[in-house]
Amino acid sequence: MTLHNKFENLFLNISSKAALSAFKFVGKKDKIAADKAAVDSMRNELNKIDIKGKIVIGEGELDEAPMLYIGENVGTNNGPELDIAVDPLEGTNFAANNLPGALSVIAVGEKKSLFSAPETYMKKISANVKEKNVIDLDFNIKKNIDNLAQYKNKTPENLTVCILERPRHKEIIDELKLLNVKIKLITDGDVSGALLVTNKKYNVDLFLGIGGGPEGVLAASALDAYNCFFQGQLLFDNENDKSRAKQMGVKDLTKKYDLNEIISGDSIFCATGITSGDLVSGIEIHNNEFISETLITHKATNLKKVIKIKQKI
Ligand code: FBP
Repeated sequence: MTLHNKFENLFLNISSKAALSAFKFVGKKDKIAADKAAVDSMRNELNKIDIKGKIVIGEGELDEAPMLYIGENVGTNNGPELDIAVDPLEGTNFAANNLPGALSVIAVGEKKSLFSAPETYMKKISANVKEKNVIDLDFNIKKNIDNLAQYKNKTPENLTVCILERPRHKEIIDELKLLNVKIKLITDGDVSGALLVTNKKYNVDLFLGIGGGPEGVLAASALDAYNCFFQGQLLFDNENDKSRAKQMGVKDLTKKYDLNEIISGDSIFCATGITSGDLVSGIEIHNNEFISETLITHKATNLKKVIKIKQKI
């Protein structure tokens, strides 16, 4: 079973509108307001389309998120049953501070095909590698770098590794420095970070480190369309998160997930720029119209492109 290609435009439209809504709050130093605008828009638009949708990655669980919570039903309740993963505003700091890289992101798959990740951290690794055992979360940094260098026919000093700039990554970053690779530190936005491996033009060979679990699932949807490698392992720092994960169906809390266990069927991914970043340009407004750029992928139709559209506001 694959997703009908009519969903490509429908979901592109939803992420574009959410981006426009958040754009109104760009540079206003209020990440909560920016996020709320994107969430409200995404929810409204989702509820207009003929699907029986279920949020599997959202704004949190019911007790912490009144809208787009994990388990919420969306759509008109008429039409195919779909799993929906959303991050209406990815990069809340970017939007609040008018910095590059804020995105509205949504991914959709058939029922029970997208991993429902709780709101915890995830250890992740991605690269444009087709085979297994070239890179792996279980390998140490040196082995991953040496294997990838060999696979790409490059020397380690010509490999670029993208990682979130966080104190928790100090050891990894120190080791990468010793290995003399090029390090690309990002301050936020690891959906985009993970996707920089998809195309040579971004000059990133490897993405790794610990970021949000939901962001990992979203990135995996696009990485699947690009036939790239991704693994993720959830991390828990308290008993409460562990028991919530168990309630959500995570049986083995230490499991390392391969891409096809996170995205187990066809999926469509849309990321629309709010502010301009590596993947897409941000929203532009001209009189009564806005221009948006969306990176859209659809595994089954082999769609992988940036689409620029002009719409009435
Ligand atoms: P928000 O848009 O929710 O602020 O997330 C931004 C982000 O950088 C994600 O891309 C990343 O997965 C996560 O935060 C990392 O979390 P933390 O800032 O706690 O290290």
